[in-house]
Amino acid sequence: MRTTSLTLLFSAFLCAAGCSDGGDGAGETGGAGATGGTGGAGATSGSGGGATSGSGGGATSGSGGGAATSTSSATSGSGGDAATSTSSATSGSGGSGPAPARVPAASAGSLREAGEKANPPLLIGAAISGGGLNDNNYKRVAAAEHNYVTAENEMKWDALEPNPGQFSWGAADNIVNWARSNNMKVKGHTLVWHSQLPGWMNSMTGATQVEQAMRRHIENVMGHFKDRVDHWDVVNEAVLTDSDTGVGNPRMRPTVFFNALGERYLDLAFQMAREQDPNAKLYYNDYSIDARNEKADFVYEMIKGMVERGVPIDGVGLQMHIGPPNNVAGGADVAYNLRRFADLGLEVLISEMDINRCGNVVSAADQLTYYHDIVEACFVMPECVGITFWGINDGRSWLNSWSTARCNGQSSQSLLFNDQYQKKETYNRVMDALLGR
Ligand code: G3I
Repeated sequence: MRTTSLTLLFSAFLCAAGCSDGGDGAGETGGAGATGGTGGAGATSGSGGGATSGSGGGATSGSGGGAATSTSSATSGSGGDAATSTSSATSGSGGSGPAPARVPAASAGSLREAGEKANPPLLIGAAISGGGLNDNNYKRVAAAEHNYVTAENEMKWDALEPNPGQFSWGAADNIVNWARSNNMKVKGHTLVWHSQLPGWMNSMTGATQVEQAMRRHIENVMGHFKDRVDHWDVVNEAVLTDSDTGVGNPRMRPTVFFNALGERYLDLAFQMAREQDPNAKLYYNDYSIDARNEKADFVYEMIKGMVERGVPIDGVGLQMHIGPPNNVAGGADVAYNLRRFADLGLEVLISEMDINRCGNVVSAADQLTYYHDIVEACFVMPECVGITFWGINDGRSWLNSWSTARCNGQSSQSLLFNDQYQKKETYNRVMDALLGR
């Protein structure tokens, strides 16, 4: 397969120049041969020569008519296309030639180890719930396989600031401290989002009031976690389409923030976050921007505008909820979108990956293909700094009880471990991609 031969070639080149295991990984996103071009305010930078798009491969899928569209053709064999396009792309570091693809470890006993031994390292994350941490098996698998944590709900506005100016840190501190005691990095999720807002915030009006509330929240939350959390989802899901699949009438979502401040609330949120922590990585995060669809194009233009205005954004997270209620994307689609965001000089992440089997929109075989090809699309790009799975085991997936996920009480079978915390075939396909196979 082309990916493998390319990565082996680069591996030989890099190791001749002094290759190491890449350190402990946790707490690092860069590492040798890392991308550069992530720099804060106004990083634009050159996509430079040779940047390509990943547009080849006849990738299709997903973008058309909703989740149920045929997508299997999008991925089969698409990994090679993705690898080809991304590995020849530049780093945004100023156009001194193509950035080498990430070099995989020769072997690894866990996903985490595969990420840590890759060059540059890749963060391997999971959404962690407070409830899960009461389960020893959950904790064991979570810490053994991952080095990057996103709190599933405990760092959202309603959890942290249930009353104006009154903060509640206990549940979030538990997760953050557990993560750090296991040498895992934490991404704060999420500072400004329309969902899971407390009632008092959701009903607020007036530009001055909303701006002040946003500033107080960002300052207090980032201040509280300052020495423990330096990755943040600053704004989440600011764009809406008529369907959850990213199709139809893309527009700014009419949230309490947008209604009071207009689109400039995005810039304000990132500026406030940057003032609070000059060194943190500041990300925009959204769903259904992994396929080729109207929402992905709209978000791309929105982010491009922010970069051009010098807004201090460091990267974009493609959530990667594949299947109902969101879109279906294949490896080539994902490579295309990762590439174009990275060519703005930004880091990219897969931030909330799961692949829902409910409703049979995604077949069992396609699920395996997607897991492999999508992880590979990120892995081969040095600018892609992390992959987070949205949960540990199927039984605890948010999809099982989400009304539009078509599960109706059944398991979504969406993750890498079954209810007994045994590795599934999905795990093996992810591991293959992380090892360049
Ligand atoms: O905590 C209450 C509990 O007291 C109550 O008894 C119970 C009854 O419904 O609800 C509990 O709250 C639920 C909460 O999860 C905690 O379990 C909410 O109803 C439920 O809506 C909420 O769902 C979360 C969802 O975000 C809300 O939008 C999911 O767990 C969480 O996985 C999901 O995560 C989001 C990301 O943050 C952003 N991207 C999309 C992703 C999936 O929707």
